[in-house]
Amino acid sequence: MMKKIKIFDTTLRDGEQSPGCSMTIEQKVKIAKKLDEMGVDVIEAGFAASNNRDYEAIVKISKVVKNATVVSLARCNKKDIDKAYEAIKYAKHPKIHTFIATSDIHLINKLHMSKEQVIQRVKECVSYAKEKCHEIEFSLEDATRSDKDFACQVIDTAIESGATTINIPDTVGYITPCEFIELIDYLKKHSRLKEVEISVHCHNDLGLATANSLAAIKTGATQIECTVNGIGERAGNTAMEEVVASIKTRKDYFNASTNIETKEIKTISKMVVEATGSIVQNNKAIVGANAFKHEAGIHQAGVINNSLTYEVMNPKDYGIYEDNIVIGIHSGKNAIIDKIKKLGKNVSSYDIDSIVIEIKQFFEYNSNFSDEDFINILNNHKIKILSY
Ligand code: KIV
Ligand code: ZN
Repeated sequence: MMKKIKIFDTTLRDGEQSPGCSMTIEQKVKIAKKLDEMGVDVIEAGFAASNNRDYEAIVKISKVVKNATVVSLARCNKKDIDKAYEAIKYAKHPKIHTFIATSDIHLINKLHMSKEQVIQRVKECVSYAKEKCHEIEFSLEDATRSDKDFACQVIDTAIESGATTINIPDTVGYITPCEFIELIDYLKKHSRLKEVEISVHCHNDLGLATANSLAAIKTGATQIECTVNGIGERAGNTAMEEVVASIKTRKDYFNASTNIETKEIKTISKMVVEATGSIVQNNKAIVGANAFKHEAGIHQAGVINNSLTYEVMNPKDYGIYEDNIVIGIHSGKNAIIDKIKKLGKNVSSYDIDSIVIEIKQFFEYNSNFSDEDFINILNNHKIKILSY
């Protein structure tokens, strides 16, 4: 049976935590509405206890979101949990997301707590959160660098105390895909993890966030935490567009689907760029300016005949409608002919070979090439029809 993978979007929480990415309440509400409309299952709207603006934004988002579950992050303490619930209580589907670190590095250097104290805290706080809200996600921060048996103990404690989702974060982007599969397999075998929803939350420090998230699907994760354009702490989080497109394009392999209306992906990407000022690199998968563009003659010849030669996705499925054949120094006759046709002109009226030569000469001295430049060159190479 085809699995459904839930998309948990944390653009408004982890995404916003990246330097220079803070958003106004209005921007956050607008983005949350769009995420809801496009089928995101869970929206992490912020971290209510961290500041008033986050709190206000979560309250507003909770009131306007129609379908998605609305989540606030909370550290594992009663004050944070109270604040989180205060903010999400207006939502149709509220959820508290509470977390505590489980790696020795964090216990010793940050929390100054023993393992026993952590277990005790998880028990107290998850049960406390459960009294307020039925849906509870519990995260083991830095899970991928934690002692596996301790992680199992923490997971069991959180589940016994009422957690409905357990999140295994790769907080520092350290693990690799095969190891992540092994880790989740181990946790499933030695704890009650299988009894609840398994979520993963990966960071991109080694450029592996998407690969790790996808690997986790193969071993039973049914929720992926991600952000639009992959924004987030340091090198970012798993990019929503990348996991969604991978699951859609390779459903033969994942035997899974998401609820995302992929045609909205370009729009939400632009909205997040506009709100955060965090631009997307040209070669970024799916949403980068060049993600579906072809300049090389050999590729253009293939794509013009059949896009499957060099495209594994249809750009229109992701809301990208612009012309993907770009005239450049590497272009050949096929692209020139294609462009002439797209301009509604008659190909047989032009000397194509000499146009190709002039275009290559043009790019020796220029880098931008407009339609106007193209038309000027065309006009220089009209075939003269001799009349007798
Ligand atoms: O990266 C992380 O571990 C987090 C948790 C709060 C889930 O963002
Ligand atoms: Zn994170």
